[in-house]
Amino acid sequence: MTARTRRPMVGGNWKMNTTFPEAVRLADDLKRRIGRLRAVDIVVYPPFPFIEAVARRFDGERVTVGAQDLHAKASGAFTGAVSGPQLRSVGCTSVLIGHSERRHVFGDSDVTIAGKLAAALQADLDVVLCVGETLAERDGDRTFAVCERQLASALHGLDATALQRVVVAYEPVWAIGTGRNATPGQAQDVHRFIREWLAGAFGAATATATRIQYGGSVKADNVAELMAGPDVDGALVGGASLQAESFASIIQAVGQAGTPSSKS
Ligand code: PGA
Repeated sequence: MTARTRRPMVGGNWKMNTTFPEAVRLADDLKRRIGRLRAVDIVVYPPFPFIEAVARRFDGERVTVGAQDLHAKASGAFTGAVSGPQLRSVGCTSVLIGHSERRHVFGDSDVTIAGKLAAALQADLDVVLCVGETLAERDGDRTFAVCERQLASALHGLDATALQRVVVAYEPVWAIGTGRNATPGQAQDVHRFIREWLAGAFGAATATATRIQYGGSVKADNVAELMAGPDVDGALVGGASLQAESFASIIQAVGQAGTPSSKS
């Protein structure tokens, strides 16, 4: 196997949780606990109104702050929506695109998601593109086809340079918030498929450099075995990111499991 250079990455998606005081406390608590964890890129995704305050708390730290969604337009009459330039202006540096709750609860289509992804890059934001199948799609043997469709439509028209700003998160819908995570083998199979697809679309070098996170009921006690897959480069964590202690344990486990030299 070729030498691996991908730096592991852990995201904490707070979803529509925390009040402002709770968000600030969580950020402060996390800051204390991750002081010495250097081997992992860490991103937290607070609710929109708390992004600026959380970003200030992590100023000068290795934690960056992202948004959970954005609108495809930069400004205008779009009541209730938040744009890429607005996010950038409050210290947000990345955004989740195509999270399964956006796709399945809010009805974001592949076309909508492609528009949001383009808008994020246009606004100078890094992107975590989430893909993944429902239980019915997995049971119908359509996992690879669904991931391929979601990748192809979201990344259509991008070149290898643009891909440097994109991380892919494989999040099987049936594993999100259910306590039922994919087995390490199931995760690795889809991650390998995604990397092979990226190689076909953008070339081997881009595919080798692109990080692919796993998400769906990741906890401190299952993350190490998931990380054993050679194509698993980190985790996107929902529920377990709401407690600084469990999130820090996950980051630590990813750091230990994910250094390129420890996986080969
Ligand atoms: P979960 O959420 O860890 O609570 O399953 C993951 C996600 O939605 O990103």
